[in-house]
Amino acid sequence: MTKPTMQQAPVAIIGGTGLTELAGLEILGESTPETPWGEISAPLVHGRLNGQDVVFLARHGNPHRIPPHEVNYRANIWALKECGVETVIAVNAVGGMHSAMGPAEVVIPDQIIDYTWGRASTFFEGELEEVTHIDFSYPYTDAVRRVLVDAARAAAVPHCDFGTYAATQGPRLETAAEIVRLERDGCHLVGMTGMPEAALAAELKMNYACLALVVNWAAGKTDHIITMEEIEAAIAKGMSGVKTILENSVVA
Ligand code: HPA
Repeated sequence: MTKPTMQQAPVAIIGGTGLTELAGLEILGESTPETPWGEISAPLVHGRLNGQDVVFLARHGNPHRIPPHEVNYRANIWALKECGVETVIAVNAVGGMHSAMGPAEVVIPDQIIDYTWGRASTFFEGELEEVTHIDFSYPYTDAVRRVLVDAARAAAVPHCDFGTYAATQGPRLETAAEIVRLERDGCHLVGMTGMPEAALAAELKMNYACLALVVNWAAGKTDHIITMEEIEAAIAKGMSGVKTILENSVVA
């Protein structure tokens, strides 16, 4: 794939916690497409960022009100595909487990382990003509990851260019023992929204990469419990780097 920067098709940015609106986006309109899978999280915001057509979607709604396990991931990804999107950049707030992934650090993960349950996680169900098993060996599109990493590097935004994302069910945070187990499994960062979004994008043959912002040390990694205050402080500190990476990634 060529850089998403060079595409005619709009690039989608799915904003997570701390990113319900994209300042800097020149807004051209909004739409709320209907989908066979139900309602999308929020109206799609169509605009231009650095000369590139962009569709922005607030994953948790705007204002932020839909918890991770109740996001209609199928409707969201379907709607983006329907408006011609070929590439999705997903912004996710996460907890850090790896020593290099502390609060306000940006991570562009390269693998994922799915611990979610009970979520509608495939388009391939119901009255099917055939059974489909998509390949999901490499859940994130490497060319898109490279664009994000290059943009971070060029803008001197500190970041990690690797990481296995543990997708947990939430909405509660993990126990300390669960975090030990996730680390033993080889995970480096933990969030609640990475799946089934990545797999659904793959089912529709879209390019997909994750731009994660660490908003807290994972449970048991510090001598204190996780507070909303520390999460908000990390968002305030780190989100400008995320926005810089987004802006530099979609230059037309
Ligand atoms: N765990 C799971 N999801 C999260 C966390 C966490 O520590 N922080 C932000 N999203």
